[in-house]
Amino acid sequence: MATKVAESVGPDTPAETGGLEITDKRTGKNYNLAITDGAIRASDLKKITTGEEGDPGLLSYDPAFMNTAACRSAITFIDGDKGILRYRGYPIEQLAEGSTFLEVAWLLRHGELPNQGEYDQFVHDITYHTYVHENMRKFLEGFRYDAHPMAMLNSAVAGLASFYPSARNIMDPVERNISIIRLLAKVPTIAAFCYRHLKGLPFVYPDNDLSYVDNFLSMVARMTEPKYQANPIFSKALEILFILHADHEQNASTTAVRAVGSSHVDPFSAMSAGIAALFGPLHGGANEQVLRMIEAIGHVKNVPQFIEGVKSGKGKLMGFGHRVYKSYDPRAKIVKKLADEVFEVVGVDKDLEIALELERIALSDDYFVSRKLYPNVDFYTGLIYRSMAFPTDFFTVLFAIARTSGWLAQWEEMLLDKEQKIARPRQIYTGPAERPYKQKIDHHNASGLQQKDALRA
Ligand code: CMC
Repeated sequence: MATKVAESVGPDTPAETGGLEITDKRTGKNYNLAITDGAIRASDLKKITTGEEGDPGLLSYDPAFMNTAACRSAITFIDGDKGILRYRGYPIEQLAEGSTFLEVAWLLRHGELPNQGEYDQFVHDITYHTYVHENMRKFLEGFRYDAHPMAMLNSAVAGLASFYPSARNIMDPVERNISIIRLLAKVPTIAAFCYRHLKGLPFVYPDNDLSYVDNFLSMVARMTEPKYQANPIFSKALEILFILHADHEQNASTTAVRAVGSSHVDPFSAMSAGIAALFGPLHGGANEQVLRMIEAIGHVKNVPQFIEGVKSGKGKLMGFGHRVYKSYDPRAKIVKKLADEVFEVVGVDKDLEIALELERIALSDDYFVSRKLYPNVDFYTGLIYRSMAFPTDFFTVLFAIARTSGWLAQWEEMLLDKEQKIARPRQIYTGPAERPYKQKIDHHNASGLQQKDALRA
């Protein structure tokens, strides 16, 4: 039977001031949980117990964090229903129109756009940290000729931790600052070295006279010319694409950076976790998969059959759908417009027709409409990257260069957040209860098999 008076389990919310009143039907007890910023605290649920010995209190169960906020963040705002994306309050469309990527990187970290002095100093600092230790070059040369550049980038960024041991002093603001500058400056250099390795070309060192984006294009594309001059439309496109990819609140890779960083490891190691998460085809790796999918479709006449295959469960329409956006991804709108500008200069991509037809059918087909599946940022980026002559394997690396700025801003915000602790989710154990150990096998048998293999070989 329910008691009349609710027990308050929120920190300072008596029942009469509002909150969430719930009844535990197991005990008949009522509880009043504080609601702050539209959320209850999962740890408040712990006080709801059956009273039986060993009951640790109520847990919230949320596989894949479908409805759990794990932090407070002032960096990026998304309204998934309205298709809104803002960095520190500024609409993404306005930043893409007016800012440089480095200005946005500053904004993400510091909360305000830089003034002229701050911007100049920041650009200078980044420019003068673009070189990497020569041993890093040797390290990259050690990879197989066909190594995936995301695997190379991930390992190299983790490896940077070994070059900067003092970066482990993460609570020292000076160390944090230099680590952030080093990462923003060196990731494009490492990425370009990965590209050159992939192509079997000599590595090109940074050119400090060039802008962030132009220097990157120079390290990627420069051959014998004494001074590299990027195609202005390519510079513009890359600058905008970097801004669009700079941050996206608590996505899988940012969550990985925060979780790994919460153990107080150095930022290079934390960021390599982010790169690993981004590599996956459901996340940043989708841009690569979109192009592979379009290539596999081969011709616009095959699109309806492909769509039917998706609807019957044979794979996904890559570049469609999003956990948060339930309308058109605002980044995808900008990318589509940008693609038109790039194609005007370099000619229309041969597979644009297939992409447009996929989009047309998906946006009118009930399967996609009822599930609110719209094109996301990755749908058109691959076509732009390909028209800029980037190989398909390299697309996600371009995403990673940009996201470095967001990962680092989020990493620092997490470190300075007094509420944060080492990330340690709970689980609901579903394995066997205690049972006796009766194992009896020969632990050396496998080496015997190896010897037999060696004899056979
Ligand atoms: N094609 C076909 N069906 C889909 C797709 C898709 N791309 N995405 C979701 N669905 C279906 C899904 O099968 C499910 O159907 P049902 O209700 O019948 O089981 C329904 O839509 C809901 O999907 P979900 O898997 O519960 O959604 P999620 O929030 O867990 O996944 C997602 C989000 C982005 C992983 C997913 O939409 C997806 O795999 N998309 C393709 C990969 C992709 O483009 N990823 C890039 C995301 S944006 C950039 C980034 O994050 O890096």
